Amino acid sequence: MSEINNYISENKERFLEELFALLRVPSISADSAYNTDVAKTAEIVKNRLVEAGADNVEICPTGGHPMVYGEKIIDPNLPTVLVYGHYDVQPPDPIDLWDNPPFEPIIKKTDLHPEGAIFARGACDDKGQMYMHVKAFETMMQTNTLACNIKFMIEGEEEVGSENLEQFLHDNTEKLKADVILISDTGIIDNNTPSIMVGLRGLSYLEVEVTGPNRDLHSGLYGGAVGNPINILSKMIASLTDENNHITIPGFYDKVIEISAEERAEMAKAPITDDTYIKSLDLGAVEGEKGYSSLERTSIRPTLDVNGIWGGYIGEGAKTVLPSKAFAKISMRLVPNQSDEEITQLFSNHFEAIAPDSVKVKVNPHHGGTPYVTPTNFVGYQAAHKAMEDAFGKAPIPVRGGGSIPIVALFEEILGLKSVLMGFGLDSDAIHSPNEHYGVFNYFKGIETIPLFYKHFADLSK
Ligand code: BES
Ligand code: MN
Ligand code: MN
Repeated sequence: MSEINNYISENKERFLEELFALLRVPSISADSAYNTDVAKTAEIVKNRLVEAGADNVEICPTGGHPMVYGEKIIDPNLPTVLVYGHYDVQPPDPIDLWDNPPFEPIIKKTDLHPEGAIFARGACDDKGQMYMHVKAFETMMQTNTLACNIKFMIEGEEEVGSENLEQFLHDNTEKLKADVILISDTGIIDNNTPSIMVGLRGLSYLEVEVTGPNRDLHSGLYGGAVGNPINILSKMIASLTDENNHITIPGFYDKVIEISAEERAEMAKAPITDDTYIKSLDLGAVEGEKGYSSLERTSIRPTLDVNGIWGGYIGEGAKTVLPSKAFAKISMRLVPNQSDEEITQLFSNHFEAIAPDSVKVKVNPHHGGTPYVTPTNFVGYQAAHKAMEDAFGKAPIPVRGGGSIPIVALFEEILGLKSVLMGFGLDSDAIHSPNEHYGVFNYFKGIETIPLFYKHFADLSK
């Protein structure tokens, strides 16, 4: 494997430069003003795949942003790895809080990244992690070490719920035939503690609208006699959790699979404590569902959070107004065996039931996603385990994550394929936040680990 490491170190500067070029294009999938940049990014990914040695590389149109596909079939008798990643990014807002412009990548040292980290929107989620696969592929091609067939599927809509990918999977089951899905879009515990994510939470995301009077009113002339939609919405939201931070929606927990005491004891071995959260986030104390640790609250338990709330006057100075409408965006993270459709329905029924007669409410569902758990007893996971162990010199710890990648459950449902979540980011890399970054160490550790995965996956599949 030293020829692989040699190739990587000889090309280090170029591997970074190419990632920088990708990071300079603002491929914000949520905002149609950036559609040209999203398309341009797909074009760049396509060209890089061709240069790395992939065949049949194409930009596949979908109902939304395009998907980039490419493959290298070296021997039909070898196993095939389908690599999934996304080239779209979250909006950079709030832009004022970035120390450097979000689409002008720069390397700076941090406490957790003494070798430097690349600061840019998408550096970790997911351009940096996705591009590790392109560079690992190039490395395997150039050193003649590719041990499996490989297919790439790099999408442009992950950050907006992968709404058109489901149809793409249905339409392309033959083309996407493989033995396992490999994804780097998650993280490790820290740079000395490798881990593999073995679970993703599901998601139900919706927007609520509360309407009171038919127009905005003078808050002196009418205040006191008319229900204020912001006051009412606040009370309704507050009632969705009780004093133990238990969600009060009837039926919400009915399908939740409680994990065993043994599994909880296993989880508690991970070096993540309440203190980890308190220190790294400057909290006075942690808060969450009674009876669970912070790690459990963010992985094996479902949650409900307001992501945004607005209404009334928010400009400079004071304006006395009793608004006609109030809004909130609410997400619920789900765990096996909850169904996002069912939870969305339960939420809607409950939200309408608790609304006082003085207001009308509307619930508009956005995207959803099914929870996923990767079994640790199959060759895909085992190959990742060995690869991480070789690369870090330490066995990785399996941990369930709190985030969501909605397409992962559909890979299993539609293609019958399990996903290995071999990510290299850190929770502190600030994905979706200002000053997102990705460790230079992590970028190259990923490029080094991926070929080991192919080697072990081929060996274990024999
Ligand atoms: N890569 C993340 C998900 C993630 C990050 C999972 C770290 C586990 C650890 C992904 O890009 C993401 O942000 N997903 C969204 C869901 C999507 C529907 C917008 C999320 O989890 O909020
Ligand atoms: Mn991602
Ligand atoms: Mn994301």
